[in-house]
Amino acid sequence: MTKPEILVTRAVFPDVVERLSQYFEVEANPDDQLYSKDELIAKLQGKAGVFTTPSSSITAEVIAACPSLKAICNMAVGFNNIDVAAATQAGILVTNTPDVLNETTADFAWALLLAAARRVTESEHWLRAGKWQKWRYDTLLGADIHGATLGIIGMGRIGQAIARRSMGFDMNVIYHNRSRVPEQLEARANNARYVSKEELLRTADHVMLALPYSPEAHHTIGAAELAQMKPSATLVNIARGGIVDDAALIVALRAGRLAAAGLDVFENEPAFDPGFLTLSNVVLTPHIASASEPTRRAMANCAADNLIAALGGISPPNLLNPEAMAKIQGMAKG
Ligand code: DGY
Repeated sequence: MTKPEILVTRAVFPDVVERLSQYFEVEANPDDQLYSKDELIAKLQGKAGVFTTPSSSITAEVIAACPSLKAICNMAVGFNNIDVAAATQAGILVTNTPDVLNETTADFAWALLLAAARRVTESEHWLRAGKWQKWRYDTLLGADIHGATLGIIGMGRIGQAIARRSMGFDMNVIYHNRSRVPEQLEARANNARYVSKEELLRTADHVMLALPYSPEAHHTIGAAELAQMKPSATLVNIARGGIVDDAALIVALRAGRLAAAGLDVFENEPAFDPGFLTLSNVVLTPHIASASEPTRRAMANCAADNLIAALGGISPPNLLNPEAMAKIQGMAKG
């Protein structure tokens, strides 16, 4: 029996590609070329499945141009690079990789908060530049984390994992989310208290963003929101570029309107706004919050599991559009 053909759009762990080749004819991309839209469309001709990452945009146009496609499996929890509605319309299954990265991503959110609020990277640059000549009472003063109020916008599984870690810092946690989460989850998340976005911005000492990107979430933090935050506050974004208005954030950081920021994601990444490079009060990392060796492996294997199930006629474990499955099953029944 001939194996279905799939495309792996970016370089991925060779053993995962090997695993996929047991089930599929795989066109991999070990050289990690970035395909243009037209190259992607050309490579997807005749392919039944695609193993993607957030840097590959599977738009409505790509979907319409690739009639053989049956499954789009993203190696990420976020899936704003895929037009799920268009995929559903075309009867294509779409999956993501939730859960496996919650704890690793939450760890990293804390790394950014501690580094930004306590000026860790700035201190190191200062020291390496030979500026440490004497001890002074006011050298590189930062903000306290312990005992402070932590505001989390987006109380999904990653937001909850961030909140749980705040217990060790004896923090007061407030959160804002599309809707309030069940009380037992609030209790486990260091007794997090649901508040309006305005109250959170006004009262939090540190704000962490952990919400998924959607058109409604675009510029959740813009100039108006930054103006509501405490000037001593820190902003951490481990969610997605576009949730923060980066130009407005640069203005606020430069003016000292906001003390510090820790950013793992950016608008238009990797071509982020070079204005950030002129600021010492921001910690910048290249979208690596989930990048521990075990977690990136787990994400790759999770995406592979989804693809193997989807093209094997089984409902994949992390199906985002069950309507597409119903459509396929309806079609099979005739
Ligand atoms: C995700 O899973 O969405 C992370 O941002 C990794 O890309």
